[in-house]
Amino acid sequence: MLIPTRDNGYIHPCAGEITPRAVYEQRRAMLRLLAAGAGGAAMAGWAGRVALADQVRRPGRLAPLPGAPSAVPGAVTMEKVTEYQDATTYNNFYEFGTDKSDPARNAHTLKTRPWTVEVEGLVNKPRRFDIDELLKLSAQEDRIYRLRCVEGWSMVIPWVGYSLAELIKRVEPQGSAKYVEFVTLADKATMPYVGSHVLDWPYTEGLRLDEAMHPLTLLAFGMYGEVLPNQNGAPVRIVVPWKYGFKSAKSIVKIRFVEKEPGTAWNKAARQEYGFYSNVNPDVDHPRWSQATERRIGEGGLFAKKRKTLLFNGYEAQVGQLYAGMDLRKFY
Ligand code: MTE
Repeated sequence: MLIPTRDNGYIHPCAGEITPRAVYEQRRAMLRLLAAGAGGAAMAGWAGRVALADQVRRPGRLAPLPGAPSAVPGAVTMEKVTEYQDATTYNNFYEFGTDKSDPARNAHTLKTRPWTVEVEGLVNKPRRFDIDELLKLSAQEDRIYRLRCVEGWSMVIPWVGYSLAELIKRVEPQGSAKYVEFVTLADKATMPYVGSHVLDWPYTEGLRLDEAMHPLTLLAFGMYGEVLPNQNGAPVRIVVPWKYGFKSAKSIVKIRFVEKEPGTAWNKAARQEYGFYSNVNPDVDHPRWSQATERRIGEGGLFAKKRKTLLFNGYEAQVGQLYAGMDLRKFY
């Protein structure tokens, strides 16, 4: 029987669990570490592991979404995970307002069921997926990614999801499909800023097909071991860890395979400032500010020492070959 209990001030139905929660969470984090580190060779010592085990705790606010440890190279960073409170209250989700605190305040109106994702365009097997079917299409994995926003801040977030490639393989893209476009929900009834002139709605994004097929490109359904909070893009979003955060489209309803580079929300809004590629690159400044450093959210506020931004957000070993021979100043 599930009895509601209080933990961290939030009610959750896990009193029926036989394994005490702290033990379960510790065990889960250890398994993740062992698998993700391919034996732990490149990992910090025991203290580091215990510290990480501490960080990936489920906050106990939303439904659990367990993931298996990811074996994808680069899928787990050992950096300190951002506090759940920060990751869920300092957001960009313009459909709910332009202030960082607006999404957490306003996104409760988003209805995440029923929800479907239409996969269409240049594929042999176009399909409409019900969200619960999409959730189970492949095994859910835990991944810990750095997220670098174009505005100069960054976070470290434990996501739950699977490689977008798993879905792409199933719909069989045709030879002429060169790009993937992501279309997100634009519902005036539940999203107060849709209809405003801030952006051209719906918010759309795009990737080259080989970028979309890269195993690090994640179709995310959860974070911190639970389903996504609305303000973070429920019920399903993309996460592309080596690109600026705006490439990671939230609350997607359509995935379209196309031949030509698709327009994207920010590219349409300010072409000279936001290119299609938008790879994190400390050497290519935004026209109005430097991209050389970043402020990690949760690290001592405005007066904290900034970190150096890394090429491809530190994922160069994994994704650098996608851009071999390209002029990254031209294709920014
Ligand atoms: N997706 C939609 N649909 N609408 C948005 O406004 N903002 C983007 C991206 N995805 C946005 C979106 C930006 S600018 C960033 S930095 C990330 O979402 C932020 O994701 P987070 O709130 O989970 O950190």
